[in-house]
Amino acid sequence: MTKKKQLPDLHYFYEASVQGVDWDVDFAARVFKNKRNRKPLDLREDFCGTAALACEWVGHSSKRRAWGVDIDQPTLDWSMEHNIPYLDKKAGKIELVCGDVMTAKTPPVDLVMALNFSYCIFKTRDLLRAYFEKVRKNLKKDGIFVIDLYGGTEAIEAKLEPRDVDGFTAADGTKVPPFEYIWDQDVYNVIDHHVVNYIHFKVPGFGKIEKAFTYDWRLWTLPEIQELLIEAGFKSAEVYLHGWNDEGESDDTYKKRTYYENSLGWVAYIVGIK
Ligand SMILES: C[S@@+](CC[C@H](N)C(=O)[O-])C[C@H]1O[C@@H](n2cnc3c(N)ncnc32)[C@H](O)[C@@H]1O
Repeated sequence: MTKKKQLPDLHYFYEASVQGVDWDVDFAARVFKNKRNRKPLDLREDFCGTAALACEWVGHSSKRRAWGVDIDQPTLDWSMEHNIPYLDKKAGKIELVCGDVMTAKTPPVDLVMALNFSYCIFKTRDLLRAYFEKVRKNLKKDGIFVIDLYGGTEAIEAKLEPRDVDGFTAADGTKVPPFEYIWDQDVYNVIDHHVVNYIHFKVPGFGKIEKAFTYDWRLWTLPEIQELLIEAGFKSAEVYLHGWNDEGESDDTYKKRTYYENSLGWVAYIVGIK
């Protein structure tokens, strides 16, 4: 009898299709060095999920440390089993904290990062400002906060955006086959900018995994985010956006900008400077 193939955990598919932690870490370290003329060493990753960013952070230097905060213990457990042990000696440089980003305690850090739009769960100005105030308190005196936001004319349309992702072997040896990632913008309410998005995967031999991840967010705008960072006590807020290559795709070169022509889709970093 042949053994039935097991679908690898969805976290492998998520990390491979959604995250670009090497870019994120390089971006944050570059901005911090430019602003503060020293290298950042400590990171707190809010909404860390599998803590892929925190792992990438400590992986670059034995001087670096990271704290990952997430409310979901099973996801943190997955990280403890499948990501953190593969950092070998640097594994001890990461601490995962199960808790709400609003209340979880960690030592003051150089950088707080909250990526993949996770803060969009806060749907009112009061809640988002309160979160930004907490972040500010969790930073050292010269700390910097990095978040991201998506936008563009297609960001407010119902749409399905499929993309093929290559197969790979994960750090723990798990073989993940090539698959299709589908970003599904299902609901957009013009009245309050609340959105519901899903991630589906199509994995050959396993079919379609519908609604593997669900996001119930307020789609904020760049001016709102900048204003709320200032209201929360940050000295300044800056927006970094990419340019375009000849094929009309992001050139992944992020520059600080104060003017940007709208396009079908963009992803910005917003930096809050304490
Ligand atoms: C979109 S995932 C982000 C995963 C990863 N950090 C990334 O950048 O792709 C959002 C994560 O936030 C966590 N989360 C949701 N609400 C939270 C809260 N109030 N405090 C801490 N974590 C929260 C969820 O458990 C989930 O793992």
